[in-house]
Amino acid sequence: MKSARAVAHTNIALVKYWGKRESSPADLNLPAVGSLSLTLDRLRSETTVAPADQDSFHLNQEPASGEVAAKVLRHLDRVWQAAGHAGARPTCEVRSHNYLPTAAGLASSASGFAALTLAAAAAFEYDPGRPALSALARRGSGSAARSLWGGFVRLDRGVLPDGSDCRAYPLQPQSFWDVRLLIVHTEKGPKAIGSTAGMQRSRDTSPYYGPWVDTSEADLAAAEAALAARDLPVLGDILEHSCFKMHACMMASRPPIVYWRGATLDVIHAVWRLRAEGLRGYVTSDAGPHVKVLCAEDQAEELAVRLRAVPGVHAVDVVGPGPDPTVEV
Ligand code: DP6
Repeated sequence: MKSARAVAHTNIALVKYWGKRESSPADLNLPAVGSLSLTLDRLRSETTVAPADQDSFHLNQEPASGEVAAKVLRHLDRVWQAAGHAGARPTCEVRSHNYLPTAAGLASSASGFAALTLAAAAAFEYDPGRPALSALARRGSGSAARSLWGGFVRLDRGVLPDGSDCRAYPLQPQSFWDVRLLIVHTEKGPKAIGSTAGMQRSRDTSPYYGPWVDTSEADLAAAEAALAARDLPVLGDILEHSCFKMHACMMASRPPIVYWRGATLDVIHAVWRLRAEGLRGYVTSDAGPHVKVLCAEDQAEELAVRLRAVPGVHAVDVVGPGPDPTVEV
């Protein structure tokens, strides 16, 4: 094997992924719905995989152990198996650094597993092409499949039991549309539940889970058309609908899954008030209390200033569309 380094940027879903299909083995990690995302500039994971005397994982310069390290090493095993090499996987040193806003509680699994997949594949001299590597990244974390490209990306749900058609592909490149995403950091409370366990609970108990799955393809088709037309109000309407439908499905789970805090709703209402004043921002939010706001480049700074003034808001980051990942051997 060789030593390889990959850089992958994180992404935010505009049409959401929540829920998994049954699969065998379970770690195929097959989403029940497709999703559509924007890869973000600057916010990224940089990961090196190198030969070493024993397996180890360092995250942000610190040695990691327990389930975090185990997930990373299991993913190396998957990449090694996919590469079809004979014999046991060579022992590796993995070093990863996340460049994400400090203490933002933003998930690093999307950029993290994308960078790990690319670095490991290059280190193991395995080059099946980015679509197949996207399907492999998905097994680490569903959202990671989308971080294999910059710009706007779609992850198909797929229908094959082995998941080989469940991978992402680029819809529009980074340069296609100079939109901005504001990441509005609100106060945090105890995390409701991790997304993997939360998805299972929603599937098992939420009466809205079936309708959520059944209506997702129509949202994807409409979002893709709005994106191609660079139609911000139409795309904004779809992304808000997908977000609220997902959170309704979560909240109707038993016990309920509520990621929002008071400040989350205060920000959402502030965005809607400002929209009535002509500042066109559209909200989405994930498995946490923060709010993300999609808007045009020429309104981003003004919107950020206004949202920083909302009580309970700690910080607002303004981020543009991000690039494709890079790999160096
Ligand atoms: C709410 O990709 O973190 O952010 O596949 O179980 O690792 P696993 O889940 P993950 O889920 C992301 C859920 C979401 C919506 C989205 O990013 O599409």
